[in-house]
Amino acid sequence: MKQDPDTGRASSLATGLRLWPLKRYSEMHRRSLEDPEDFWSGEARKLDWYKTWDRVLDWHMPYARWFVGGRLNACYQCVDRHAKMWRRSKVAIYWEGERGETRVLSYSTLFREVNRFASALRQLGVTKGDRIALYLPMIPELPIAMLACARIGAVHTVIFSGFSAQAICDRVADTQAKIIVTADGGYRRGKIIPLKEITDEAAVRCPSVQNIIVARRTGEPVPMKEDRDIWLPSLLEGAGKFIDCEAVESTHPLYVLYTSGTTGKPKGVVHSTGGYLVFNHSAYQWVFDIREESVYWCTADVGWVTGHSSIVYAPLSHAAAIVLYEGAPDYPTVDRWWDIIAKYGVRIFYTSPTAVRMFVRHGEEGPLKHDLSSLELLGSVGEPINPEAWQWYYKYIGGERCPIVDTWWQTETGGIMISPTPGIEPVPLKPGSATFPLPGVDAAVVDASGQETRPGETGYLIIRRPWPGMLLDIYGDPQRYKETYWTRFPGSYYTGDFAMKDEDGYLWLLGRADEVLKVAGHRIGTAELEDAAVAHPAVSEAAVVGKADEVKGEGIVLFVTLKEDVKPSATLRKELVRHMRQAIGPVATPDEVYFVDSLPKTRSGKIMRRVLKALAVGQSVGDLTTLENEASVDEVRRAYEGLKKRVSAAEGD
Ligand code: WT7
Repeated sequence: MKQDPDTGRASSLATGLRLWPLKRYSEMHRRSLEDPEDFWSGEARKLDWYKTWDRVLDWHMPYARWFVGGRLNACYQCVDRHAKMWRRSKVAIYWEGERGETRVLSYSTLFREVNRFASALRQLGVTKGDRIALYLPMIPELPIAMLACARIGAVHTVIFSGFSAQAICDRVADTQAKIIVTADGGYRRGKIIPLKEITDEAAVRCPSVQNIIVARRTGEPVPMKEDRDIWLPSLLEGAGKFIDCEAVESTHPLYVLYTSGTTGKPKGVVHSTGGYLVFNHSAYQWVFDIREESVYWCTADVGWVTGHSSIVYAPLSHAAAIVLYEGAPDYPTVDRWWDIIAKYGVRIFYTSPTAVRMFVRHGEEGPLKHDLSSLELLGSVGEPINPEAWQWYYKYIGGERCPIVDTWWQTETGGIMISPTPGIEPVPLKPGSATFPLPGVDAAVVDASGQETRPGETGYLIIRRPWPGMLLDIYGDPQRYKETYWTRFPGSYYTGDFAMKDEDGYLWLLGRADEVLKVAGHRIGTAELEDAAVAHPAVSEAAVVGKADEVKGEGIVLFVTLKEDVKPSATLRKELVRHMRQAIGPVATPDEVYFVDSLPKTRSGKIMRRVLKALAVGQSVGDLTTLENEASVDEVRRAYEGLKKRVSAAEGD
């Protein structure tokens, strides 16, 4: 395979590590850690500021504040900046509806739409700092609403449109959002998801909500409550054509996005404006070599952090053209995605290992039917990518010519932290390794006592100093912020992930080290699932463990004990599955449900997950390597044998 070390356009597998050592990358990484303030102020100057910062960084553990004293606006970076010049006629968004409709928005159209939306919000009394919940399908109104909020300094909180009324309620109650923006419905595999009805169900339990704005998508009639609900088209008709961008402080929150942790209640991750934008703007150049002429498609939903950074803020800040696809990957046919790549001439394609594994199952006929020669770079995100999926992606999608950037990051990190950086220089790839930390990212793998592990040894991934994309806080819960990220390894940010650094210094991300699952790339806490399960009237206690799944990466296995007078049955099992989907959303669907008469616990009352896990995956306890140490090996073994007997007895009922 050919490589061009000057352009960074191509890169090879690490056969012989021909480019070793990476000169440009290493030099940049070294410089970024030697003098971070100088390095990051250089990056920050690539954005437009109303006022430059007084100090690059205020770091009072655990709070980092970047570009303090500086003022800017995220909507200005992503829209106005481009709409003011020749780029106004450039494509900003190629929208593809599930039913085949197309909408193309230029930067000038985006500018007009965002201004009208922002004026409308202002007319409804929204001011700087107000929280606005967005529960929308993948239609242009979603990025428009986000940018409109940013324009007037309002803080958006996007709620994934696959979530239930309860999930909306939790998030709206936590942020005290006064407006929810939704749609009359969304399409998923040809079916209509009744978003407005779900929103209504949530809103009756959320007194902070004053208005519900409803975008038109399906055209179906939906209930509208007088004085509270407003159709978006009529709201926009009466709105002003232009509204000034609010010059917010760099540290002003841009958004709150909820993610799962180790307790039942999701965490509201708060991101800043200045640090978040600077970090993402630079990262997307380093990782994706993104440019204004790039057609960039990230297949994530805007409702996750990947969508926030990789669909909206980073690509638009570079004036790239983004593809926004509304529907399911395999609908109406399994080659839908490949058709979209060919249709829009996608150059950079970013997806999840789960999606790749699903396509591996369908076979290569799909991609082979389409001209994918526009592709130059592929990306992977959300979970470790297994070598088989990697090779297939490389061969059939990338035509053995596109490097794959395996990007490791989290909702909390705001942007990509560990990844090959072909935008700096080609990095020899090893399938399954996210390679090296980005400039400015001080990543290390340590053992339980905080000592760096030796090459090849598994440990915990930590980040030893703040970076500009780092979360500001957990919304309304500074104590949880401190405890979750900053107490385990004092002075360092704890990621909650296992990792390993090999002899060449390559980082391998090995999955979660805490009680959080990754189901089809979606993050969900076992505690959140357990809370939902015990909310069912038949359930007394519940425990959830993950089980390897060929396509989804991880699947959900639910163990329950039932209330005294309840008998286990196949009907109850189905009913519990339905209940979980309703309580959280389809991501929460258990693959297996076991009825047990008691859960294995330590003397201190902690559930022995290792035992449950061994049972779920059909291994003996001793085979499960784990750094958890909840009970002695003997105790664990006894509990396992006991549980196994009880499960088979209960299954016989
Ligand atoms: C967790 C964060 C940020 C993008 C979407 C996920 C896992 C993410 C990788 C990767 C191995 C990965 C980690 C991390 N993860 N990317 N390239 N290789 N694991 O965001 O929902 O906040 O989940 O996803 O376990 O902690 P998220």
